[in-house]
Amino acid sequence: MEKETQSNRLVLFPCPLQGHISPMLQLGSFLHSKGFSITVIHTQFNSPNPSNHLDFTFFPIQDGLTSEEISSGNLVAILLAINANCKVSFRQRLAQVKEQEPENKITCVIHDDLMYFTKAVAKDLNIPNIMLRTTSVTNFLARTAVLQLRSKGHIPFPDSQSLSPVPGFHPLRLKDLPTTNFDTFEKYSELVVNACDVRTASAIVWNTTDCLEQSSLAQIQQQCPVPMFSIGPFHKIEAAASSSLLEVDTSCIAWLDKQSNSSVIYVSLGSVASISEKELTEMAWGLANGKQPFLWVIRPGSVSGSDGIEQLPQGFIEAIGERGYIVKWAPQREVLSHRAVGGFWSHCGWNSTLESLSEGIPMICLPSFGDQKVHSRYVSQVWKVGLHLDNELERGEIERAVRKLMVDADGEVMRVRAKDLKEKIEVSLRNGGSSYKFLNKLVELIMSL
Ligand code: UDX
Repeated sequence: MEKETQSNRLVLFPCPLQGHISPMLQLGSFLHSKGFSITVIHTQFNSPNPSNHLDFTFFPIQDGLTSEEISSGNLVAILLAINANCKVSFRQRLAQVKEQEPENKITCVIHDDLMYFTKAVAKDLNIPNIMLRTTSVTNFLARTAVLQLRSKGHIPFPDSQSLSPVPGFHPLRLKDLPTTNFDTFEKYSELVVNACDVRTASAIVWNTTDCLEQSSLAQIQQQCPVPMFSIGPFHKIEAAASSSLLEVDTSCIAWLDKQSNSSVIYVSLGSVASISEKELTEMAWGLANGKQPFLWVIRPGSVSGSDGIEQLPQGFIEAIGERGYIVKWAPQREVLSHRAVGGFWSHCGWNSTLESLSEGIPMICLPSFGDQKVHSRYVSQVWKVGLHLDNELERGEIERAVRKLMVDADGEVMRVRAKDLKEKIEVSLRNGGSSYKFLNKLVELIMSL
């Protein structure tokens, strides 16, 4: 197989957000291990670091984003602008790659579903395209439900209905549906509708696995005629290099080494979500009063209007002493697999959810927007490996949640279930497992294009 694939080049186009770049490059590492040559064409905005992936070729293209657009933090507007701006520069670069190495043919373009402009360009150049979906299948189905409910006038809904069940989507409630905080519904639906269009796709690749989303996978397969490959969790199929956009502070590992087994709660709200200064204060005192050791990621910009760390309440650092450790960005996968970590307080982005489930770590869920709300509901109600922080962030509630997860019997039950799920995920990746089989089928499909 490897010999045959060597003259085949795959062109990847990631969506330039941390939670999308990582799975795309992980997929690239796996396909490279199967002998494919990998070229990554990417925006200048959030460009990946080529020195972490010496086997790949990287080409930046003009994305036309203005500094105002970037600093607005409006992700929907940024993604729509990239789709509108990049067609010409992507076409030029793709044609150039094609011409430069005629003996190394481009077998296909693999693009993030949110980077939908790439489909027409690939089609124009007679190159097949494969779509990568970096979120869960359940979230994808729920997004479609949002569009339908909106067309029937059920969205937006009054507060009094926020706990009403979504028909056909047990256990999701209206408030769990993946809506956006960033822009108008019209702009959001423009993005979603374009990302849903699979008419030219040769295949769809999902970063998920059967044991997590069996019924959603069955449902999507019925709805969609395109071959689908659920081959995740990607970070477990090939030891890929870091694709962090921020500098990783590894000093926390030495601190973790000093803690006892399963005693530490790891706290991170991902690469986009932000909290208010008041919420930061409540989190800080909730963690301090919870009396468990904690490792907390406070990302620059994650506290509205400030760098974050300097906004911590007075007396907090003295109160926690050696019991807490704070970094701006952690080596998360290494942290979650560390023997000292026993719980993860997460925003439930799909990568973080998969990384936690793969290590058998139970969770406290604090979703912020979009798919995070769906995953949070699944963690607490379907996989039953975590608890959801439902009310406004308040220190007493946080303290109780930390103790429930890390000390009480309820947490122990979740830990046992999480270990069980971890084993199921491992089985799916082993020879004969569902992800393993789909990985081989994916390579066969790409070879046949
Ligand atoms: C965004 C959206 O918020 C999310 O809902 C969607 O599923 C993907 O895009 P993000 O906030 O980036 O997600 O979260 P997530 O998908 O969990 O990805 C974050 C990645 O950053 C993870 O792979 C995690 O390991 C990594 N990370 C996070 C670090 O390496 N270090 C950190 O300190 C924090």
